[in-house]
Amino acid sequence: MNLNKDFSGTDLAQQTLETPLEEPARQYYFMTKCREIVKERSLEAGRELTANVTTFGCQMNAKDSEKLRGILREIGFSITDSEEADLVLYNTCTVRENANLKVYGHLGYLSNLKKKNPRMIIALCGCMMQEPDVVAKLQKSYRFVNLIFGTHNIFKFAELLYQVLEGQRIEEQMLLPKPPMIVDIWKDTDQVVEDLPADRTYSFKSGVNIMYGCNNFCTYCIVPYVRGRERSRRPEDIIREIEQLSQDGVIEVMLLGQNVNSYGKTLDEPVSFAHLLEMVEQVPGIRRIRFMTSHPKDLSDELIEVMKHSQKVCRHLHLPLQSGSSRILKRMNRRYTKEQYLDLAAKLRREIPDLSLTTDIIVGFPGETEEDFQETLDVVRQVRYDSAFTFIYSKRTGTPAAAMEDQVPEDIVKDRFQRLLALVQEISQEMSRRVEGQTLPVLVESLNDHDPSLVTGRLSNNLLVHFPGNEKLIGQMVDVHLTTCKGFYYLGEMA
Ligand code: SAH
Ligand code: SF4
Ligand code: F3S
Repeated sequence: MNLNKDFSGTDLAQQTLETPLEEPARQYYFMTKCREIVKERSLEAGRELTANVTTFGCQMNAKDSEKLRGILREIGFSITDSEEADLVLYNTCTVRENANLKVYGHLGYLSNLKKKNPRMIIALCGCMMQEPDVVAKLQKSYRFVNLIFGTHNIFKFAELLYQVLEGQRIEEQMLLPKPPMIVDIWKDTDQVVEDLPADRTYSFKSGVNIMYGCNNFCTYCIVPYVRGRERSRRPEDIIREIEQLSQDGVIEVMLLGQNVNSYGKTLDEPVSFAHLLEMVEQVPGIRRIRFMTSHPKDLSDELIEVMKHSQKVCRHLHLPLQSGSSRILKRMNRRYTKEQYLDLAAKLRREIPDLSLTTDIIVGFPGETEEDFQETLDVVRQVRYDSAFTFIYSKRTGTPAAAMEDQVPEDIVKDRFQRLLALVQEISQEMSRRVEGQTLPVLVESLNDHDPSLVTGRLSNNLLVHFPGNEKLIGQMVDVHLTTCKGFYYLGEMA
């Protein structure tokens, strides 16, 4: 059941008695209906129809895009990297303002492509579409967009696409001026639809959603508004998916959630994240387990114990700091202090010495003074992050921080950002050097982008390694001697 469903789409898809109501059967039904139309069109065109899915934003979106590509492939589209395609779908992000600007920029380019190919379908989905202002702007000024849907109903893509395809058919047969823009946005949902197709980017590794949404409401962050309330998948569904992935050749899984440490709390039979990790460890064939993201306030001793003793859980923990000032952390609603964070980081370094600790930091949150910023630099110096993503605070409409009065002037923020970046990079280079000279297992991911005589892979601690090899190694775990540290990556040789 979906909550507060706000359906403003035009129901061109005739509901007949044969339309299944249960998911995912209903979507498979619409995939078949779409396939018929796509086949017809492709016969008319004398070629396969192509589809492009472009992802903006985080791992969750990347995972959603794999599902969307899976549906498109099932319908009969051939997937392409080029935006000169018969269908282009943007899976958008809105975490910072520049994410939105990028999408509007790209849309201008797409409208030109559509002039050359009027039947081209342009569709938008993802986090940015959950913002009513964005949808209103698109409806007013971007009429060439055919379909808009959100984060809560991506499972419904086939059904919505059928409405678009049918709409185009009716328009062409009846010489109507223009089919309507289909818009279907849900405000929230408690529905989790399992068993839809997916088109995985890598054959040997895969993201796995373990939960959706977020309940933390950090005051700067729009994610809880666009991804809805936190809900966990049942462990048996997660394990079943991972067993299937393993049978398909996957050896590394990345468990995905906005705050994995609160996994399982709302299930009928609650399960801790640490326990879920132990269950995933039991799946035959899985050799590496990663996860993203851990909120410091919920990181348990149980999790540290499981990580410490595990042969499969990777030596990498992403532990977003956001700010080193307890005063700012309170205003951010992060629910930990500088001291609590430092204690936790020290415990992690002590218990798991080869762990790589990475983080996210925001500079210029409203009210941040030079003293607050110095506290952030102090934490960076003490924790010595293996790497850190640094962001300039971006005002997001509707979040509590956007209404705070003391926004920091841009020139001050930029100056702080540069100083933080310099420190983070200096420390990160030193930390990366920690494993120089060692021989460690590397999962080979691809041929090197610049030099095809090299392959690129990843250490358990997430650092990249380039070494001589060929494409037969892709997807294999091999021991590599880490000869030279090049700042943020390694050059090596197979041992
Ligand atoms: N759930 C994850 C983060 C998701 S967003 C977590 O809690 O860690 C990824 C990162 O974007 C955040 O960690 C934060 O550093 C940054 N971010 C989120 N909102 C932002 C904003 N309004 N301005 C700048 N950075 C922001
Ligand atoms: Fe945003 Fe905070 Fe939730 Fe992360 S935990 S998604 S930063 S609200
Ligand atoms: Fe962006 Fe949505 Fe992820 S806002 S960071 S794509 S959850």
